[in-house]
Amino acid sequence: MDKMVIRGGRRLEGEVLVNGAKNAALPLMTSSILTRGWNNFRGIPQLGDIATMKLLLGHLGLEIEGGEDLRIRADNLTCSEAPYNLVKTMRASILVLGPLLARLGRARVSLPGGCAIGARPIDLHLRGLEALGARINLNHGYIEAEAKKLRGSKIYFDTTTVTGTENILMAACLAEGTTVLENAACEPEVVELARVLNKMGARIEGAGTDVITVEGVDGLEGVEHRIMPDRIEAGTFMIAAAITGGEIKINNCRVEHLDALISKLIEAGVTAVPEDKGIRVTAGDELKGVDVKTLPYPGFPTDMQAQIMTLMCLAEGQSVITESIFENRFIHVSELKRMGADIQIQGNSAIIRGGGKLSGAPVMATDLRASASLVLAGLAAEGLTEVSRIYHLDRGYERIEEKLSSLGADIRRVKG
Ligand code: EPU
Repeated sequence: MDKMVIRGGRRLEGEVLVNGAKNAALPLMTSSILTRGWNNFRGIPQLGDIATMKLLLGHLGLEIEGGEDLRIRADNLTCSEAPYNLVKTMRASILVLGPLLARLGRARVSLPGGCAIGARPIDLHLRGLEALGARINLNHGYIEAEAKKLRGSKIYFDTTTVTGTENILMAACLAEGTTVLENAACEPEVVELARVLNKMGARIEGAGTDVITVEGVDGLEGVEHRIMPDRIEAGTFMIAAAITGGEIKINNCRVEHLDALISKLIEAGVTAVPEDKGIRVTAGDELKGVDVKTLPYPGFPTDMQAQIMTLMCLAEGQSVITESIFENRFIHVSELKRMGADIQIQGNSAIIRGGGKLSGAPVMATDLRASASLVLAGLAAEGLTEVSRIYHLDRGYERIEEKLSSLGADIRRVKG
């Protein structure tokens, strides 16, 4: 298995280009199921999760061509089953459920099961589809859903769910009548999906607020679209600048998507200034500990929690990081402690006593963002850090070692 070997202590400097957003690309790819004619999505990141989604859509009978410029056509959609071997490697595979049901009147999708960061149930996806008139059974580890024609309905989400909102939004596009989603997720990736669905011919209003209204239509057509930049990749480079005492201009970054992170970095003593289609982040003379609580957008993103915790390990004073989205997203803590961090977990909070140093060590993580936090720790640590199991990192960051090297980091991938 490949690992990343990092010699810490280098100041990062220069410019870096952010890729298209993974969590926007995945629902856009599955929205193709609803369309006739070619879709052309530009700026698709070359990531493990995108490769898995291509395999899954190919299995369903969609035609798929290209890489960064991805062409998808669902005119010959034949199969309505998402098998276990593809769903188990990527939970976002559940995003085929709503579109398949709306287009074919049936879907059989493997239940995703738990994952390292928490149980991650899908009850709200299923309840939403049932409200649209689907009959759903769970059999032999599979969700079996059926509905000759979905009917618009009012759906209230007990918890804000990103992919749940996306699944129901896609299904509602081809339902008869009006659907109203209440307590819908407001994440920029949901707004991007709604915008593209509207380009395809859907009638959606209110995306970006917690009430989304969808008027069903008879069919959707393929579109051309350039994908939005990845706010979590951008945020990870912002922390890389702050943690190495460096200065990085991050290009292709929508600053308005990163308000919560930027305000926390400024509070910690980092300078972050928007600059043509990006942001320049400069480490301050002193890094101060700040408290952070993860929340649905526009709150602080859970996908940046591990990375800011690494930064707080080096900040002066104490900080408290509270994870309110996933129940088990502190997997990085024990690894950071092995690098010398002083962190205590109390319930869903981590108390970090910063100000010390990190020292390089062999580490590994079992999820994507935790792996990113360990790479950041390696950049700031004294000596050598080896991050193993980096297939997690490759699921969400394209060529991260090349990008960090171009900024001056001493990092290399060792094939194993
Ligand atoms: N939840 C339920 N029932 C459901 C759905 C969700 O109880 O039916 C709960 C979850 O257990 C969790 C909370 O609701 O406690 C929020 O989960 P959500 O459904 O919003 O997460 P998701 O849609 O599965 C997406 C991203 C994640 C990101 C979360 C939160 C994609 C493909 N994934 O997951 O991204 O952490 O939203 O913002 O969009 C990552 O990129 O590393 C990643 C994990």
